[in-house]
Amino acid sequence: MQKNSTANILLVALIICIACSVIVSAAAVVLRPMQVANKALDQKVNILQVAGLWQQDQTVEQMFTNIETRLIDIEDGEYSQLFAQDEFDQRQAAKDAQLSIALTKEQDIANINRRENYAKVYLVKEQDQVVRYVFPVHGYGLWSTLYGYVTLESDLNTIYAIKFYDHKETPGLGGEVDNPRWQAQWQGKKLFDPEGAVAFQVKKGNVQANDVRAQYQVDGLSGATLTSNGVTNMFHFWMGENGYQKFIQRHADMEDV
Ligand SMILES: Cc1cc2nc3c(=O)[nH]c(=O)nc-3n(C[C@H](O)[C@H](O)[C@H](O)COP(=O)(O)O)c2cc1C
Repeated sequence: MQKNSTANILLVALIICIACSVIVSAAAVVLRPMQVANKALDQKVNILQVAGLWQQDQTVEQMFTNIETRLIDIEDGEYSQLFAQDEFDQRQAAKDAQLSIALTKEQDIANINRRENYAKVYLVKEQDQVVRYVFPVHGYGLWSTLYGYVTLESDLNTIYAIKFYDHKETPGLGGEVDNPRWQAQWQGKKLFDPEGAVAFQVKKGNVQANDVRAQYQVDGLSGATLTSNGVTNMFHFWMGENGYQKFIQRHADMEDV
């Protein structure tokens, strides 16, 4: 065969393609466990940060000894042993018809279509007492579903912190949900009014200190009312009757967890 013949060129190209695809596939397979481990580690870092336990000079595993991961049955608000926590992927469960329910239009205020039946809740402990709870939350903003965590004090009404770890809102607009100065306002805000209804709200504009509702409000994100409303709706859903409300009613300030 001529060195520069068409057949020879095609043969060389084919060999290179096969060799490259073998290398890429092998890399994907070999690196997969590392990717999974890094993703799990990243989630733990997010949880530690929102739980107020993050410290630069300790390992994630060391810090995580102060957190107990529990699975809860969202429907009845009780702890569940149905899955080992490590085996339960909550985001996957929300897509699984066996492990989630379809929400009606009226129920689906967070625009998430389906709600998983079980959730992982992280109990932050000090001397064996639960001092805070970290709950996963998600809901639709303007361009994307925002995934995050909210930490509540042991009264399960006072917000300690929030953090979003995945969204595709516009940087500088809806993406300001990640701004630590905006997130700092959430600390100390209340979720429920005295009747037990979810009163928390990302307000349009700034919170007025003399407003009786100020304790339930944080400033809106300027130029991003649609993302702000998405965050409000997310909290109304997850803290409401189709979210964690039963768990909250059962466990507020209980010590026997
Ligand atoms: C390119 C582009 C990106 C935008 N991204 C967002 C966003 O991420 N979140 C959001 O709420 N609004 C975003 N907006 C603005 C919305 O369309 C809408 O005008 C805004 O939410 C209304 O909020 P305001 O009443 O505070 O101005 C974007 C607009 C443009 C043109």
